[in-house]
Amino acid sequence: MQTTTAVDLGNPDLYTTLDRHDRWRAYAAEDAMVWSEPGSSPSGFWSVFSHRACAAVLGPSAPFTSEYGMMIGFDREHPDNSGGQMMVVSEQDQHRKLRKLVGPLLSRAAARKLSERVRAEVSGVLDRVLDGEVCDVAAAIGPRIPAAVVCEILGVPAEDQDMLIDLTNHAFGGEDELFDGMTPRQAHTEILVYFDELISARRASPGEDLVSTLLSDDELSIDDVLLNCDNVLIGGNETTRHAITGAVHAFATVPGLLARVRDGDVDVDTVVDEVLRWTSPAMHVLRVTTGEVTLNGRDLEPGTPVVAWLPAANRDPAVFEDPDTFRPGRKPNRHIAFGHGMHHCLGSALARIELAVVLREVAARVSRVELTKEPSWLRAVVVQGYRELSVRFTGR
Ligand code: HEM
Repeated sequence: MQTTTAVDLGNPDLYTTLDRHDRWRAYAAEDAMVWSEPGSSPSGFWSVFSHRACAAVLGPSAPFTSEYGMMIGFDREHPDNSGGQMMVVSEQDQHRKLRKLVGPLLSRAAARKLSERVRAEVSGVLDRVLDGEVCDVAAAIGPRIPAAVVCEILGVPAEDQDMLIDLTNHAFGGEDELFDGMTPRQAHTEILVYFDELISARRASPGEDLVSTLLSDDELSIDDVLLNCDNVLIGGNETTRHAITGAVHAFATVPGLLARVRDGDVDVDTVVDEVLRWTSPAMHVLRVTTGEVTLNGRDLEPGTPVVAWLPAANRDPAVFEDPDTFRPGRKPNRHIAFGHGMHHCLGSALARIELAVVLREVAARVSRVELTKEPSWLRAVVVQGYRELSVRFTGR
């Protein structure tokens, strides 16, 4: 175990280069616990990196809560004001109720029903990019598919989808200079204004979508409905697009992967899990202790913020052999890319189906994916994401 106060791990500049993995691996290998002084997070925070410690913080019986916030930026004096209302930052009865309401819309059965829609979207995107021109997958492919799916779940009309993708990029893409036109806060406000209008429309004429389902529960306020639409929009778009981009990155860099997927030499669901582990798009989750806890041999007071770094856990050499290598047939693959415990990703079935369809469709229609330059990475701490992934596709 090691502790240090030298570095603010909430500084997004640390994550724009691949040496982030070396740093994380070194911390995970030592089962380190690192304190970041107040800076990126006004209250400071502890960090854990090993698979074991991250699972302990997120585990179902762990004395930790997300109700005061689940991201770096946590401020004890000003806890997350959607705490107790939005699923990902609520606990107990409200959390159970929301999962029960929203779960069926994101279930495996619901995801299966959406798979044809996903296939059509992937196919349409491939029609546009199989022209021999250089294609930035992070902009042209990654965001389209999850956005179309989430909009479908929410009941967002097709004509508004492009606007919502753009706003989501702005709101949750980090402080990257690509998004200078609008601050993340402004973009987030725009999304909520849009949902407010959608809620009024669904109140007048309910459907079978998420907005109507949330509205059907009399105990939920309009604020609750709004926040939980936002939760699904963000959860569904922001991470999945980077996993999809990462799947194309794997096709470009893992020898023989395209042919193996196309010929059925490898189980696609196994490849999906390796994409999730390797890309690990949710970079961290934060929790606050609800009682006295001993973590990695250190006693923590109630009210202490702790960050679990999911990509570090997913490349922990104690759990994953040769962790930096993408192994298409890796089994077992106990990654925690979807988190762990009570807040385990509710959209995981949907994300898996999206990735499986992308892998199958690309393999069926493409004979070669060639990187035209090295990828660049978002300057962000919430997501581990591609800023740009430029490739050239050769059709079959
Ligand atoms: C929660 C990751 C896709 C909706 C989470 C959490 C993680 C995560 C790590 C747990 C957060 C925490 O413990 O505080 C991912 C990744 C995805 C993905 C890596 C894609 C590769 C999706 C999709 C949707 C979605 C497609 C919906 C359409 C949600 C929701 C929660 C959640 C609603 C909150 C669950 C709860 O608090 O009980 N996700 N997610 N996610 N995700 Fe995802």
